[in-house]
Amino acid sequence: MTVKPIAASLLLTLGLTLTACSSVSVPPPGGFQPPNASYNEQWRPKLHYTPQRNWMNDPNGMVYLNGEYHLFYQYNPQGIKWGHMSWGHAVSRDLIHWEELPIAIPEAPDIAIFSGSVVYDRNNTSGFGTTANPPLVALFTGWNKSNNNQSQYAAYSLDQGRTWTRYGTAPVLDIGSTESRDPKVFWHAATSKWIMVFARATDHKVAIYGSTNLKNWTYLSDFGPLGAGTAPGQLWEVPDLVQLPIDGNTANQKWALLLSINGGTLWGGSGMQYFLGNFNGVTFTPDPLPAVNEPGGVLYQDFEGSTYGSWTVTGNAFGAGPAQGTLPDQQVVTGYRGSRLVNTFLNGDSTTGTLTSPDFVIGKPYISFLIGGGNHPGETAFNLIVDGKVVRSATGQNEELLRWNAFDVTALQGKTARLQIVDTHTGQWGHINIDQIVFSDNAFTENDNRVLWADFGRDFYAASTFDNHPTGDKVWIGWMSNWQYAEKVPTYPWRSAMTLPRKLTLKTTPDGIRLHQEPVAALTTQHAASLKFTNLPLSQMRQNLTAAGVRGKTLEVLLEVDTTGPGSIGLKMHTSAFEETVLQYNPITQKLSLDHQKSGDSSFDPGLSEVHVATLRNTGTLKLRVVLDTSSIEVFAQDGKLVFTDLLLSSPSSDGFELYSSSGDPLVKNLEVYELKTIWNP
Ligand code: FRU
Repeated sequence: MTVKPIAASLLLTLGLTLTACSSVSVPPPGGFQPPNASYNEQWRPKLHYTPQRNWMNDPNGMVYLNGEYHLFYQYNPQGIKWGHMSWGHAVSRDLIHWEELPIAIPEAPDIAIFSGSVVYDRNNTSGFGTTANPPLVALFTGWNKSNNNQSQYAAYSLDQGRTWTRYGTAPVLDIGSTESRDPKVFWHAATSKWIMVFARATDHKVAIYGSTNLKNWTYLSDFGPLGAGTAPGQLWEVPDLVQLPIDGNTANQKWALLLSINGGTLWGGSGMQYFLGNFNGVTFTPDPLPAVNEPGGVLYQDFEGSTYGSWTVTGNAFGAGPAQGTLPDQQVVTGYRGSRLVNTFLNGDSTTGTLTSPDFVIGKPYISFLIGGGNHPGETAFNLIVDGKVVRSATGQNEELLRWNAFDVTALQGKTARLQIVDTHTGQWGHINIDQIVFSDNAFTENDNRVLWADFGRDFYAASTFDNHPTGDKVWIGWMSNWQYAEKVPTYPWRSAMTLPRKLTLKTTPDGIRLHQEPVAALTTQHAASLKFTNLPLSQMRQNLTAAGVRGKTLEVLLEVDTTGPGSIGLKMHTSAFEETVLQYNPITQKLSLDHQKSGDSSFDPGLSEVHVATLRNTGTLKLRVVLDTSSIEVFAQDGKLVFTDLLLSSPSSDGFELYSSSGDPLVKNLEVYELKTIWNP
């Protein structure tokens, strides 16, 4: 593959071309008043913030002051796609009900206003206000439309965020880069200074700077590359650095670096990872990443021989035997085991062919394997063939790192099968890397390894925390979409919603210390009709639910269920004769899965009909909290240790939820169901 020119990478991410930015008209000073929308449009969220109309992406500058929570955000005042980036604005007194205000910081003739943060400068260190009336100070990225430079600018407000004055026309920090953005600033009491973290997107680094007045910034250190999103073409964006108590003990705290990445995520497109570690006022030192586990089971093929042995080769992409790592002109290949792997970059991307195993009988429920290379379903693929048909298939993620993946073949045990590695793609990323095929008892996927994912869904991005939260809690809000398809989501006249505000904590778990997230307590003010049952067998709970006739699109479900039996337990949500979204826990494989194959509209991107799977250790009791809105689902499992955030575009007639178990009648310790009132028409 060839590496994309750096200056164009953000635009490519956004699906834009450079020419799209040539002519700019500026919204009128004093802001823009959107017309009233009905808030009853199909898929208009009833509990999540959306602007009345037009395009929105990252939340920006979240800050609390004098009874108000401010939410600023990337906003296009002129259309329903990305462009004319300005800071939209909404305020809330409880983090649940929002009032949309006029645009806070409009696009300027010289620069577009990209993501950033706001701090409450209570001691007027900046001198922008007075001791009696300290300022709110915004630090944001200005994207210079004439030369693509991205540098950090300041603006301030002395009237509760209603109007903003830019601090001169020059940036406060310019490192001469076209890929440095998204400053997040906080006060570091231990060293009495402001700290700014921002992303050096294509270098896969977070830059850390310090200041005593928010105007003059001094370089302190860099963090990265580490974890996911570090391959060429992938981006690091919107970092945040927060200190959180462990298990509620404020005397025992740890730092978390929260990071958005575009590319190299679990399900494609954009997503979020985090790092735990220590910050000493200068450097963030990460703790070791979680260990790479290997799947237990029978090793079927490790491709360590100098020939393919009994496997059959066609075409010219495979050569006489497994490759010894990276091939000429290839980016560095990593993640394979031993010294050889299958690597079809032989003589570049243009070569093609197949490599087919002998027949074998499927004896274990999973086939685990390491896969890397091109993302071309069916064309750079690893296939399982039964009765001459491809019954399972996987592809790479356009990166040379091999990651674990697995086929669930439980239903195919006893069948005769073959594995086939296919490379028919001749363009960019026209190759596939495969290694270490293991017949295993458990699904084994990369999700378990190396990376701490903040969210196991597809639609959680650019989240950052509130400054000056009244109780000191760390609360964040994310953008509930994915750059892979954000501009195609079929909502009108607005596009994109924010997630629910979520409180962040750290808790000790059997896997180590992990980030936990739960919706802020004020969500309960939206509870309407409710049901609560305790300590009944699941079959009885089902009957109670049927008798109560639980329906509706906007629901909160709390479930606590015994998982010591072998059967899978789950919820079917937004159901109708033709649609359902299934959340299921399998206590044997210890996997929680969210199945979107029949969820609703996925016409604009196949990603909308995927099954998302994550490992969740079986502790004998599964605790789920699910918040369903008209067009989204947020799942908080085990007190928010594992979160899925996904768009869910079900049809108007699909609603409600059902409980089920695949076998046995497990004890449901607690079931609470709440209808949720809309936040728009109280
Ligand atoms: C992340 C991002 C930021 C940038 C903003 C532009 O979603 O690409 O890096 O500041 O969006 O709207």
